Amino acid sequence: MSDQNFNVVSIIRKKRDGEELSKEEIQFLVRAYTDDAIPDYQMSAFLMASFLNGLNDTEAAALTHSMLHSGIVVNLDETPGIKVDKHSTGGVGDKLSLILAPIVSACGVPVPMISGRGLGHTGGTLDKLESVPGFTVDVTLDRYKEILKRQNLVLVGQTEEIAPADKRLYALRDVTATVESIPLIAGSIMSKKLAEGIDALVLDVKFGSGAFMKELKDAQKLAETLVGIGEQFGKETIAYLTNMEQPLGNAVGNWLEVKESIDCLNGGGPEDVMEITHLLAGTMIYLGKKADTIEEGIEKSHQAIEDGSAMQKWIDIVEEQGGDSSVVKDTSKYPPASYMEPVKADKSGYITAMDAYAMGMVSVELGAGRRAKEDDVDPKAGFMLHKKIGDEVKENETFATLHTNNNEILNKATSGMKKAITISDKKPPAIKHIAYKVDKDGVHKYES
Ligand code: URA
Repeated sequence: MSDQNFNVVSIIRKKRDGEELSKEEIQFLVRAYTDDAIPDYQMSAFLMASFLNGLNDTEAAALTHSMLHSGIVVNLDETPGIKVDKHSTGGVGDKLSLILAPIVSACGVPVPMISGRGLGHTGGTLDKLESVPGFTVDVTLDRYKEILKRQNLVLVGQTEEIAPADKRLYALRDVTATVESIPLIAGSIMSKKLAEGIDALVLDVKFGSGAFMKELKDAQKLAETLVGIGEQFGKETIAYLTNMEQPLGNAVGNWLEVKESIDCLNGGGPEDVMEITHLLAGTMIYLGKKADTIEEGIEKSHQAIEDGSAMQKWIDIVEEQGGDSSVVKDTSKYPPASYMEPVKADKSGYITAMDAYAMGMVSVELGAGRRAKEDDVDPKAGFMLHKKIGDEVKENETFATLHTNNNEILNKATSGMKKAITISDKKPPAIKHIAYKVDKDGVHKYES
């Protein structure tokens, strides 16, 4: 890294005027900000200039590099094998990590997974894991390495040493309306993923009403940027563009999603969840060189469910990380939320649309997410969907059940859920869950 001293105002002005920044200028800025040598207002100006004028691929890679090296790049050589992780750009009801991580690990590929908490309307893997009584996601780096070595799997949160620049920049972006920028999101995601010690990465880039990228074309650009950065850093990276026009699966809310994931690991589970899970898991197994093709990886993923090895791996990791495996083995041992309220359809017809963003916000209101950073989440809160897009519904038929410990919110949540669905006379076309694959060779239409 250069020790050259740059003028911060000149760097901001350059980006404001749409000029390209050098790698050294970006490194200087990120390092100075992380060291408290430049104030929030100057970094905010840089972020807004970058948001408005963009960063090209070289600049985005330089930003990722600087954020990655603001902390430790973990060495996982103690665990043999090609380490592969998966990252999702976030959605509503997205519990895929809970299912695919044990599958892939059971197939012999080490999975070091560092996840985040719920963000806005979307849920987070850490909150879901913590809904298992006793499960701990806050561990030291040494323990992170030890769990991986023992279990071939580790499911934890970001430590202080992992990409600290991203932690600070993300908090600043959150309050300066600069989150939804493709190069800034790409740098943020990839700096954390590259720091955790992986060899290869699978990305689930979501588009639709419940995703951060509502439009397929923006999701595609993000996927191309993420794959480009991964490959520049020498990590084989494959992304899929998947549909988030409606919540994924039937369960939304932390413990409800864990329960649905256990159903999936036991061989059941909703079809949309399992189609995407097997594809992502199969791709990870292929990248981890435990299958010669993605198709063979998908077959192995199915086998790991059928022979019970994925479920056993899930029980092992719950016990390793301090969780109560008795409730995982028998979910009826863990009582539901105090209030369970049916939501009924106002008229008969077909469900033609669901506003997944609005439904995500209802789950936050019910207690499943946070409105402020310091809020606690209610592990039992959320909802179950009994109908999805394309299903027929009769007037007064229950299409969802709300779960909460706060009965004061029930009326508002009920009307929020009703407003979030559209019922029409005509059956809509079936939703395609996976649209494209993006790899180093480009963008490919996905045919299942
Ligand atoms: N997730 C991240 O980790 N970073 C972003 O900027 C957006 C989503």
